[in-house]
Amino acid sequence: DPTKKVDRFLYAMHLHDDQLSDISARFQAEMKKGLSVESNAAAALKMLPTHVRSTPDGSEKGEFLALDLGGSRFKVLQVKVGEATGIKKGGVEMVEKTYPTPEESSLLLQLFDHVSESLKDFLHEKNISLERKHPLAFTFSFPCEQSTLNQGLLLNWTKNFRAGGLQGKDVVQALRGALDRIGGVDVEVLAMVNDTVATMMTCGFDDQQCEVGLIIGTGTNACYMEELRHIDLVEGDEGRMCVNTEWGAFGDDGALKDYVTEFDRDLDAASNNPGKQILEKMVGGMYLGELVRLVVLKMAKLGLLFKGQVSKALRTKGTITTEHVAAMEEYKNGLNNTRDLLMGLDLIPTFDDCVAVQHVSTIVSFRSSNLVSAGLAAILTRIMENRNLRKLRITVGVDGTVYKMHPQYPKRLHKVVRRLLPECHVRFVLSDSGSSKGAALVSAVAQRLASRRR
Ligand code: BG6
Ligand code: GLC
Repeated sequence: DPTKKVDRFLYAMHLHDDQLSDISARFQAEMKKGLSVESNAAAALKMLPTHVRSTPDGSEKGEFLALDLGGSRFKVLQVKVGEATGIKKGGVEMVEKTYPTPEESSLLLQLFDHVSESLKDFLHEKNISLERKHPLAFTFSFPCEQSTLNQGLLLNWTKNFRAGGLQGKDVVQALRGALDRIGGVDVEVLAMVNDTVATMMTCGFDDQQCEVGLIIGTGTNACYMEELRHIDLVEGDEGRMCVNTEWGAFGDDGALKDYVTEFDRDLDAASNNPGKQILEKMVGGMYLGELVRLVVLKMAKLGLLFKGQVSKALRTKGTITTEHVAAMEEYKNGLNNTRDLLMGLDLIPTFDDCVAVQHVSTIVSFRSSNLVSAGLAAILTRIMENRNLRKLRITVGVDGTVYKMHPQYPKRLHKVVRRLLPECHVRFVLSDSGSSKGAALVSAVAQRLASRRR
């Protein structure tokens, strides 16, 4: 059985429940550390206050432009929610267009000029009036330090973005600057939100119990509703606020050192941001395929696969992607897909080689969902402690290409979370319409509050 040698070879990637509970406990400790002012500077989990103080109640309404930047697709949208022109209460209508992802832009100026040009193009194409000022909701899926809803300093880039000159700068201001330069588009940025927050809100519109947002896409991250009294960085003790954990950085201070393998270290060393986003590199779609490639390459070099043959393609970074991982684990066609992939990499696999490589893929993607389960268990445990509950009924809103495309990922994740936390009744809801709906809902509340103040 060719899976046996893979199991032996990847022993360290198998995470048993006691190990997952251990990781979950470390997660909880890191969350505490990030929330307190004394230890935040040294904490891996930044636990960023989002200034979103409640989940939707269904009465939100308005018409917004939206930008969605930082996932695998850059989108411009128009979102109409609740009782807006021709829409029923609780209804949503969206028009969207995907533009080229500006991830390659080397300069901040280019990045936001591209964003602004795209917005302008969208307004023209959809015949949206340029005469009036449009309220705008901005999903920006990177760590930002926010002191209000419509402002935020970029702490650092993650994933594949690296435009220079933005770190430490206010992202909303950079966007406004670019819009002014381009001219002809008048917007008021009402809210800038992380994709996790937007996802929680999107799902929260239909489910009042949705108090956690989870992304397993290019990167990974989660947010949840925390008690304000525990958020040192924001004044006030009453009520709750959504906290963006930025959990992709879990492990950056060594918390995962017992679980990191040689493949994780090699991948990290060859990445844009060595030493950073350690959990993300074990979980996210930007990295899963590459991890599989590194394992398969090593096994081939050791003579454990392809009779010791190695091809140039197999040696090349990025030739195995997350789409391949998903394809290899398809129920019926998985083995065929694995063979096609390997032959496409100029290898000559035997049947046993295909079975072995498919198993490598399974172990890598299973470890990803297991690590997410451990993180989620930590958040849910924290919520129970916060609220002094022995049982909890809660909904987790989820989005991201890995969760949506991988045939077995959701099922594995749900099962392990429920096993780790039997006292928690968790419902997982897939975000139906992406981040922009949620960002628009946050903007709707901001708009209502602002008009009341006027
Ligand atoms: C989408 C959101 O639905 O999910 C994006 O609109 C978000 O903003 C994304 O970043 C996460 O998934 P991925 O796989 O595109 O990174
Ligand atoms: C990265 C970003 C984070 C985002 C996540 C998912 O981890 O830092 O802000 O939520 O990717 O897109």
